[in-house]
Amino acid sequence: MIKEFNHDKITSADKAGKYKEIIKHAEEIVRDESSLTANLANISSLLKNTFETFSWAGFYLYDRKSDELVLGPFQGKIACTRIALNRGVCGASARERKTIIVEDVNKFPGHIFCDSSSKSEIVVPIVKGSELIGVLDIDSGNYSAFDDTDKLYLEELIGRILFIFDE
Ligand code: SME
Repeated sequence: MIKEFNHDKITSADKAGKYKEIIKHAEEIVRDESSLTANLANISSLLKNTFETFSWAGFYLYDRKSDELVLGPFQGKIACTRIALNRGVCGASARERKTIIVEDVNKFPGHIFCDSSSKSEIVVPIVKGSELIGVLDIDSGNYSAFDDTDKLYLEELIGRILFIFDE
């Protein structure tokens, strides 16, 4: 249990520094808590509240039965609850099992608008071995908000917390 965490603890000014701190805090968050929901909720909050440019940050988890991504813990406006793997940026990332950066969502064929203010997006797949677990999705109200630094550290973050999807 985290007794004294707040986002003001993130002190780095630059993006890479912020991500390094996020990863450290995320590891602390998941170390002592076994609830997947609680952990993903807190990591969504950590991401969304650290970067002012993030309008939405959260998880979609793969449901094998329906073969869809289902909305998980997130921070931001209400979002669509189910995404087929052949739809949207999330579906493409899950299907191709690779991180997708969209600089202008209006130019991504099939992009699903959950929030009309969203301008750019990054989706990182969560995969264990050959098993699709879900995706981490982050939206921004700015165009071209995400670059290789976001990709690098968000993939690193997912790698560090992958064990929480074990149960
Ligand atoms: N834009 C996403 C849908 C999820 S929301 O952004 C939260 C997509 O195209 O897959």
